[in-house]
Amino acid sequence: MAGPKTTLWELEPHTRAKHDLLRRYLGGWFPVLSAYNGRIVFLDGFAGPGAYDNGEPGSPLIALDTLLKHAYFPKMRCEFLFFFCEADANRFDSLQGLIEAYKAEHAPWPSNVKVEAVNSPFAQTATDLLSYIGTQKSKLAPTFAFVDPFGFSGLPMKLLSDLLSFDRCELFVNYMVNFVNRFAGAGNVDHHLTELFGTDEYKEAAALQGKDRQQFLHDLYQRQLSDVCGLTYVQSFAMINRTGNIGYYLFHGTRDIKGVELMKDAMWKVDPGGGFTFSDRLAGQDVLFTEDDVDVSPLRTALLQKFAGRTVGITRLEEFTLINTPYRKTHLRKPVLGPLEKEGLIEVARPGRSGFPTGTRVAFLNP
Ligand SMILES: C[S@@+](CC[C@H](N)C(=O)[O-])C[C@H]1O[C@@H](n2cnc3c(N)ncnc32)[C@H](O)[C@@H]1O
Repeated sequence: MAGPKTTLWELEPHTRAKHDLLRRYLGGWFPVLSAYNGRIVFLDGFAGPGAYDNGEPGSPLIALDTLLKHAYFPKMRCEFLFFFCEADANRFDSLQGLIEAYKAEHAPWPSNVKVEAVNSPFAQTATDLLSYIGTQKSKLAPTFAFVDPFGFSGLPMKLLSDLLSFDRCELFVNYMVNFVNRFAGAGNVDHHLTELFGTDEYKEAAALQGKDRQQFLHDLYQRQLSDVCGLTYVQSFAMINRTGNIGYYLFHGTRDIKGVELMKDAMWKVDPGGGFTFSDRLAGQDVLFTEDDVDVSPLRTALLQKFAGRTVGITRLEEFTLINTPYRKTHLRKPVLGPLEKEGLIEVARPGRSGFPTGTRVAFLNP
């Protein structure tokens, strides 16, 4: 199902955007997690050959490089385990060669960074890992699982749920909605689809058309990640292909609001328009929006509606902004609360003389 036949292939603009998200997110995740844990794991379940046609790095090398080049890396004391699975033998050879070359370039290799690459399918490796952990009666260290297949087989929801049952494990998954959409009513790969979703409710898509059908398949996957895997926060980022249609969604799932904040920051930087979409057709052109042009009026409206007549702390407003709207924390204070205060629509009790520091309470007046 899908994917090139060659060992390497050309890097497309949407893949560059995906890598950009990964790089930015890990740049925030490594220091946060390493500060509180003795060991953290980056698991790349569908690692690829390690490079693209013109030598651009693939996700395993991007992850390693993000850590080693991190300004705080010398201060990070924890052990980092990078675990890469690649099922195809030629791509695995390419990946291994590139990892060895990367290590040689960075000799002496830091003793707290371990790299393990296996030439076997993700599902097999994850099952073995879980049974090993079970026999050791130990816990999986905080893990960021990047799951980036070409299609939708070999990615059972049950396995993700087992892997993500450990605290502080999170997921960044490429959900190939266009393939799912194509095959959802075909009947010939139902076992893969049932495994993918962990339910056969996807069959209800057969009664829907066009955007409704796609939205249904998006929402069902999101709901399953949340209900079956117990991920409290699940956000998605749509990748639009050359025909103007959504090719795939990247879903990020975490139980930690800090993870939501980091991923939102990454998403806004890759798509400053804030639509959580990236289009191949726009690649190579100037960005359409800058952070200054962001239309924050939907955030303003949402806050006024939600909190009318109530007094709430600034932390609650940040949380609402992050979880219930597409906006980031930086959109809240100066762009929205500042004007609301000037217009007399809120009253602010602040610990200092200006701004909205921690401890600030905001009274939303009744309309
Ligand atoms: C989309 S590519 C990965 C690209 C890579 N993550 C990157 O960003 O550079 C998917 C890779 O998964 C490999 N693959 C396919 N089925 C697999 C499976 N069941 N387990 C692990 N790898 C698999 C393919 O050979 C291919 O190299």
